[in-house]
Amino acid sequence: MGKRYLKILAFVCVFLMAMQVALAAQAADKPNVKILATGGTIAGAGVTSTTTVGYTAAVTPVDKLISNVPELSQVANVSGEQVSQVASESMTMEIWLKLAKRVNQLLDQHDVDGVVITHGTDTLEETAYFLNLVVKSDKPVVLVGSMRPGTAMSADGPLNLYRSVILAGSKEAKGKGVMVMLNDTIHSGRDVTKTITDRVDTFKAPEIGPLGFFTGDKPVFYREPLRKHTRHTEFNVMDLTALPRVDIVYHYAGNAGTMIEAAINAGAKGIVHAGTGNGSIAKAEYPAIEQALAQGIVVVRSARVGNGIIARNGEANDDKYGFVASDNLNPQKARILLMLALTKTNDVKEIQQMFWEY
Ligand code: SIN
Repeated sequence: MGKRYLKILAFVCVFLMAMQVALAAQAADKPNVKILATGGTIAGAGVTSTTTVGYTAAVTPVDKLISNVPELSQVANVSGEQVSQVASESMTMEIWLKLAKRVNQLLDQHDVDGVVITHGTDTLEETAYFLNLVVKSDKPVVLVGSMRPGTAMSADGPLNLYRSVILAGSKEAKGKGVMVMLNDTIHSGRDVTKTITDRVDTFKAPEIGPLGFFTGDKPVFYREPLRKHTRHTEFNVMDLTALPRVDIVYHYAGNAGTMIEAAINAGAKGIVHAGTGNGSIAKAEYPAIEQALAQGIVVVRSARVGNGIIARNGEANDDKYGFVASDNLNPQKARILLMLALTKTNDVKEIQQMFWEY
């Protein structure tokens, strides 16, 4: 009886050890992907399955987002951290800095192969471009969101998250900068923008196009970003506790300089002018603009059009006034580059060069 018991015990031990070895081998085969959650509709909940407007964003915690998609464990060793829980219109510079520092720490670890960030779609493009400029690693970083809350019929979040984890763990995505993945489409964080208020195909890079697509579970790339990003930028946020204030001033017919004055009075160190057409500045705005320049505020000319290159010395004499032309960055992205530029210099020639390079 005693011998038989010992034999069974020995068999069970060997079996459990073999299982452990097999599981460890299986885990070693898969990439390690960290999911950092910030909130948004992907963590949202509605009252009924047909609620696709009027739901509450940023309520589902990261562990639930992960356990809702059990298929994740088939493609990666996944773990999560809650960085914030906000609808992304309430994203702050403090959260950006916290997120960027955490991403850099994680990607420094040899046991992290990639990072996925769940985020609201409203300002997702801004966070993506910010991280594209301050993450110091070639490892993949993917921002993902959804247009429908998790409680909705045909919720897009679970599949977006699943494919983002595949992307973050893939060799093909290395060195491509910070990417955005929704609706099976992979975009560069620099080029992408939200173009439609309420549909799942909202993210586009209107003139430039996506980097690639998913076919089934396979990411396929067709191009890579040429503008400097991640490891190749001069920006470092690890020691920063705040970013310089930069405001965007939107121009429209009949507007004078009131909003520019408001930015000056609020203590802006930089102003992005979202001008009409090719970044035009109205005659009535010049007195306020000149006041800003006289106070050492850096003024970037961008366009409310949202696409196209701002021609330097085109619609304004940039050399004479000391303006910076925003290249083809839309106003919200120009603001991010200007904030980071101001952490390095106030020299408008150097800042202009950054706008040509990033
Ligand atoms: C948000 O940006 O947090 C709300 C909208 C969304 O995620 O689609």
